[in-house]
Amino acid sequence: MAMIEVRVAEIIDETPTIKSIRFVRADGRPLGVYQAGAHVDVLTPNGVTRQYSLASKPEDPDSYMVAVKREPNSRGGSAALHELKVGDVLQISEPRNLMAIDPDAGHHVLVAAGVGITPMLSIARYLDLHGQDFDLHYFARSREDAAFLGLLEEKCPQKLHAHLGVPRTEHRAILAEELADLPPKSHLYMCGPAPFMDLVQELAEQQLPAEAIHRENFDAAEQPDASENRPFDVEFEGNVYHVPADRSLVRVLQEEAGAEIDTSCEEGICGTCIMAVLEGEPEHRDNVLTAKEKAANDQMTTCVSRARSERLVLDYF
Ligand code: FES
Repeated sequence: MAMIEVRVAEIIDETPTIKSIRFVRADGRPLGVYQAGAHVDVLTPNGVTRQYSLASKPEDPDSYMVAVKREPNSRGGSAALHELKVGDVLQISEPRNLMAIDPDAGHHVLVAAGVGITPMLSIARYLDLHGQDFDLHYFARSREDAAFLGLLEEKCPQKLHAHLGVPRTEHRAILAEELADLPPKSHLYMCGPAPFMDLVQELAEQQLPAEAIHRENFDAAEQPDASENRPFDVEFEGNVYHVPADRSLVRVLQEEAGAEIDTSCEEGICGTCIMAVLEGEPEHRDNVLTAKEKAANDQMTTCVSRARSERLVLDYF
């Protein structure tokens, strides 16, 4: 995957545990505009790749901003980024969008918890700029822990519904009330901890079709034990390769077929390794594709997903 060398231009403590980090291109050229909802891979100084949503103005070509929460059990990703200083140089990927705004939606409902506000910030900025109808529900432990709350209160006070300090046991009742009676053609976008998103998903599915629910996952799906893997065959560019139970599909394609497939997270959360499925039935194990995309069975992540059928026929996406 092509990476871009960037320089840290600004770091702001947004909360006691969240820093926003603004990047500009190291060579001084513009980074370019991006689609609201997009994320980038960030290669940290200690060699760990992590995905972060962009939260800067999507139409600003000069810089990208991400917000990083320092995780208590960080294995190097968030901890290393919290050590960055202005002027440091590192690598990021081109923006990739797995939570694009639906252009046909009549109303947009944004639901965020904690640092999950970051993709919603770019989506809210876009919708506000283009005069589109939306509501933003923002759950945070306290005002002090709510990154960008002041900015949102200033820019879109009518659209913002801040739920601060609400005990988790009350989330269901609040969400059920807020998600009842949505306007026609509503689309919902969510980001936050997995249990929170599972709850939002459950309630949203009672109101909206699957294709109107958009979810940003930066946690890998729980994977079955490797002993449950079944071997299968994959056909690529006219040749057939065997994928044994102990090897991933992408490794076989890269190492035996010479396929030029980029990978990044290798955990089924970034979407870099997606390929087109021409024949066969994938066993989807990722957290990238939506339920509708998985059901269509015409694309799959190749780092974690496998096959239900004896053979898959794949091509570049
Ligand atoms: S490499 Fe990230 S989903 Fe496969």
